[in-house]
Amino acid sequence: MDIKTYCTILLVAGCFSSALGNSIETTPELHRHMGENVKLSCAVKTTDPGDWMFIQWKKETGEGTYMNIASMQNVVLSPDWSPNVPDHFRDHVELQKEDVLDGYALILFIEGFICSDNGTYICEVFTKSNPSPMKSQSVLFIEVDPGKPSIHQNVLQVKENDTFDIECTANVGLPPLPLSWSYTLKDSSHIYQKILDGFTQENSPTRDCTIRGKSVLTVEMREELDMATFLCATSSELSTDGSKKNYDEVVVQIYGKTTTTTSTLAPSTPERQQPDDNTGGSSTIPSSVPVILFCCLVAMFELFTRTS
Ligand SMILES: *[C@@H]1O[C@H](CO)[C@@H](O)[C@H](O)[C@H]1NC(C)=O
Ligand SMILES: *[C@@H]1O[C@H](CO)[C@@H](O)[C@H](O)[C@H]1NC(C)=O
Repeated sequence: MDIKTYCTILLVAGCFSSALGNSIETTPELHRHMGENVKLSCAVKTTDPGDWMFIQWKKETGEGTYMNIASMQNVVLSPDWSPNVPDHFRDHVELQKEDVLDGYALILFIEGFICSDNGTYICEVFTKSNPSPMKSQSVLFIEVDPGKPSIHQNVLQVKENDTFDIECTANVGLPPLPLSWSYTLKDSSHIYQKILDGFTQENSPTRDCTIRGKSVLTVEMREELDMATFLCATSSELSTDGSKKNYDEVVVQIYGKTTTTTSTLAPSTPERQQPDDNTGGSSTIPSSVPVILFCCLVAMFELFTRTS
């Protein structure tokens, strides 16, 4: 083909597509906390308001499978539910129509985001003048705050040189946070040394989006560790405040060495210093390096569902 024909084709194609001049817009990704309201908007702009137009939201239900949710035609302009949308979705989702510049939007307004709302939503627009639909998607990600971790013992008595395990479990939230271990020696005025973060292992959350995590710390009992406090947390920023408390702790004693009356245990003071964050900590406790070696660590972070 010569250059003239080529240019003519380009010109005609250009005029054609600008005459259609339709565009579609969604927010590609939305990250929201469980319980929040979420507005999924599919906005369509058109240069030809007279053209028949059909807008539809659908949700991906599996690999290549979809469920139609709702649709709207520009001649009617009131959104409608598609047949067979489950009640647990309709219950808390409102359909809305909104005017935008040069067009309108079909909106799914989710009142109180729940786990089953998570997923990929696709908006399609069909027009009379253009038989192939325009498509755009929004992926909705649910986020869940982690709960308070729990260590099953308050005090552990172990013989010197014996190896022992400390087990910590928690709802680790979504996206899942690692459980992190730290410790403080008897005389180190509650300055915590970080040991290690557990590692996460992907698995599917339960229906209510809960992921239970477990981390096991293996420690060899040495003289220096007598009366040390080990702490398991879902964040390196410790929060002591009531329901937001994000750690649990256990005091370890050498069996037969310390007096075992509870009054000698480390007090659980509300004002404590945070675990070391690269500053002062390690210089405050020179013995921390060998202790880390003693705490030869086999931390396992397993995620398992609440139901398992
Ligand atoms: C939410 O949906 C997205 C997209 O399908 C997916 O990648 C993610 O794993 C889902 N999250 C949960 C908690 O199911
Ligand atoms: C523990 O090990 C250290 C060093 O190997 C040793 O000196 C100490 O006697 C041991 N203690 C016990 C109670 O076995």
